[in-house]
Amino acid sequence: MIGAERFRSHTCAGAAEEPGEQVRVAGWVHRWRDHGGVVFIDLRDRSGILQLVFHPEESPEAHAVGRRLRAEDVVSAQGALRDRSPDTVNPRIPTGRVELQVEEVERLAEADALPFPVEDEAVEVGEELRLTYRYLDMRRPERLRALELRGAVTRAIRDVLDDEGFLEVETPVLTRSTPEGARDFLVPSRLQPGSFYALPQSPQLFKQVLMVGGLERYYQIVRCFRDEDLRADRQPEFTQVDIEASFVEPEDIQALVERLLTAAFAAAGLELATPFLRIPHADAVRRYGTDRPDLRTGMEIQDWTDAAAASGFGVLEKVVAGGGVVRGVVVPGAGAGLSRKDGDDLVVEAQELGAGGLVWAIVEDDGSLRSPVARFLDGLVDAFGAAPGDLIALVADAEGAAQPVLGALRERYATRYGLLAEGAWAPVWVVDFPLVAWNEDEKRWDPTHHPFTAPRPEDLPRLDDQPGSVRSLAYDVVLNGVEVGGGSIRIHDRDLQRRAFEVIGIGAEEAEAKFGFLLRALRMGAPPHGGIALGLDRLVMLLAGERSIRDVIAFPKTATGADPLTEAPAPVDATQLRELGLRSVAPPRS
Ligand code: AMO
Ligand code: AMP
Repeated sequence: MIGAERFRSHTCAGAAEEPGEQVRVAGWVHRWRDHGGVVFIDLRDRSGILQLVFHPEESPEAHAVGRRLRAEDVVSAQGALRDRSPDTVNPRIPTGRVELQVEEVERLAEADALPFPVEDEAVEVGEELRLTYRYLDMRRPERLRALELRGAVTRAIRDVLDDEGFLEVETPVLTRSTPEGARDFLVPSRLQPGSFYALPQSPQLFKQVLMVGGLERYYQIVRCFRDEDLRADRQPEFTQVDIEASFVEPEDIQALVERLLTAAFAAAGLELATPFLRIPHADAVRRYGTDRPDLRTGMEIQDWTDAAAASGFGVLEKVVAGGGVVRGVVVPGAGAGLSRKDGDDLVVEAQELGAGGLVWAIVEDDGSLRSPVARFLDGLVDAFGAAPGDLIALVADAEGAAQPVLGALRERYATRYGLLAEGAWAPVWVVDFPLVAWNEDEKRWDPTHHPFTAPRPEDLPRLDDQPGSVRSLAYDVVLNGVEVGGGSIRIHDRDLQRRAFEVIGIGAEEAEAKFGFLLRALRMGAPPHGGIALGLDRLVMLLAGERSIRDVIAFPKTATGADPLTEAPAPVDATQLRELGLRSVAPPRS
């Protein structure tokens, strides 16, 4: 163990293995109590908790110090480790059979009164306060465990990549705009006033240049920066396991990622079955209403458009007549006990997600339907294969509007009605993403992934005339409905790259200005190459059983992009701005 004997000879957990021995331990006062003159302290270090006993008669000096200790003081204590008497054994902690009879103690540091108790994790503390005092928050075992898990997962991933001949290479943080499509964080240049670095949204361009440089197998556990609106699974700075390899097909990268994820799961004490399912993007969207389907449950989206057209239900008929669809999901067992009021709430929920409305119906024991509009729903039960007790939810709308709503409802229902088995893992590769998607606002084709993604060779003949129908060699890996990674085979052929740029309306000049250095590199002997980036925060979040990536990041940002610990971002003084050739026109922060 690293550490000076002067402070400790053992960790708390390690000391418990040495009954009868003299040991010295160091840590924080987790809990303090005085039982008829005898002081008991739960001492906590990273390894766990050990009970210290301060006896007034046996060690009056140590007892005098022990009496004055307070929660979260830091102490070093020495004494003999003894078995506890049978009636005082604490079966709830691993060291609960022993205690340290303190003979000598030193208070190494004193703690002020605390903004929230560390010792009682049942006390709910607001996130803002926890982040302001993150160092106290991470003394709580749950938070500590998440960071330990993150370390173990990172190490397991590094081990696999090192074993397979991947070389870890660092790429610049002060760089130029990268093609990931989010807003950039900019850093003004002092030496070239008026010019800016962009923080990388990913090392995409550099890793491709590394392949041209002949490195063949690259990886990096790397911070990426995207100025996006935050959500539970998004941070402005986050970590990727970034990978690129030469002379590979999609299957090579996918198999490597399956080995990586298996190792990451093993580091968390979990098992993951391989190979993962593969599902074409178009199927995912049609069957699950999303490109990151949660396959822990079936509940596919079903079509009732033709029947609805002749159902006599004006609302639905009108939508169909206007070219729309009527689609829905069957939620097994969710109908039992669902009241009229619950049904109304389902309608409101669907409307909040953007649906015009929702038809809900419950299959009764005799196979009939209970629904405000049951009389219009003839044949629905058979068409959807629903069983007694099931809930059926229908949405009528244009296909592009109905599908995402049903996708979102499917996920909510699955959670709400308990259809997601505890501890189930459903990894899936979503493949064959469309190369480009139509941007109605800008009236142009945008890359679905990024402009260097290779089209599927068999779709190439349609690239110029029907770009929307061209599939790409891009793939996402999705775990329980969370996109944990995405990548592609890249274009390494200069003519094809030029055509791809034309499709997305990037002319030669613009391409040169934005990505000139990569294009030049690609003209000097570029090997076929491809790669992927895994979102490490999201992966660890799933493995830790957390719902937000903030819980697995030591110092995360809040929804306003602020760090309550350091109070970043912060105003800077006028001199600093002058040096950078900048003037702030924003109103001063209140
Ligand atoms: P992409 O943009 O899909 O691909 O990002 C890869 C993975 O990074 C994670 N991720 C995020 N995690 C937390 N907060 C965010 N704001 C955030 N944004 C993305 C996701 C995502 O799947 N250069 C390409 C990869 C490649 O083509 O090789 C890229 O960055 O888990
Ligand atoms: P309304 O005529 O708007 O009161 O709607 C009658 C019923 O049809 C209500 O239960 C609505 O929730 C439902 N409904 C309305 N619009 C839609 C729609 N676009 N899709 C599914 N159900 C709808």
